[in-house]
Amino acid sequence: MPRKVILAANWKMNLTMKKSTDLVDDILNKMKNKDNCEIILFPSFLHIPAIMEKIKGRNIGLGGQNLYFEEVGAYTGEIAAFQLVDVGCTHVLIGHSERRHYFHEDYETVNKKVIQALASNLKVMLCVGESLEERENNVTEMVVVDQIVSAMQNISIKNLNDISIAYEPIWAIGTGRNATPADAAHVHKIIRKALGRIFNTDAAAGISILYGGSVKPENIKELMAEEDIDGVLVGGASLKAEPFLDLMKLIN
Ligand code: 13P
Repeated sequence: MPRKVILAANWKMNLTMKKSTDLVDDILNKMKNKDNCEIILFPSFLHIPAIMEKIKGRNIGLGGQNLYFEEVGAYTGEIAAFQLVDVGCTHVLIGHSERRHYFHEDYETVNKKVIQALASNLKVMLCVGESLEERENNVTEMVVVDQIVSAMQNISIKNLNDISIAYEPIWAIGTGRNATPADAAHVHKIIRKALGRIFNTDAAAGISILYGGSVKPENIKELMAEEDIDGVLVGGASLKAEPFLDLMKLIN
């Protein structure tokens, strides 16, 4: 079965309610209804219900940028998986490098979040990626494989339909410096091989692996030309309608 092509927008901690809902209106008004790629938006938690109202019936996925791994209860300031589902989320981002780095999310935390998300019927987009120092020390493959193996602890093969991976080299995020398509594709192959060892080769062949890090209309074509790159997770270029609509047109 061909893998799903995914265009995902991570709006991070940007935009007011008005700006994010205007952005959605703009995208919806101008987008051609394409079914050759899956679109997923990851806005601020606060804006999710308003955006949900707007995208109803439009075949667009909506997700949280994070969740807490406990099911429910006294965890002040946290957001539960069931609460994301309750307001219409289909997806959740887990293990973004900004969460691993600024909020000290370790392997165990990321794994617990993946388990809770899947148990709550959310689709997981698991983010992995190496720092500049790790790349310069030639440990990219080891770092990324460790991130994958640890996140997949106690995950069953039947959950794989609900998992996608986003490879985002940290040094390419928000820097304007993207990995070359060949470099990215090489790491995507390593990731797929690791998934093959954990589950099996056939199952691994069906998982969409996205690239993220300074993706823009100018470089998406060459990235998507690589066989193992199945989509993109976009930050900066998803905050305005025009570049995002261009990405939609160019993705395949
Ligand atoms: P940029 O596209 O701004 O580099 O961000 C990538 C990213 O971190 C998406 O999750």
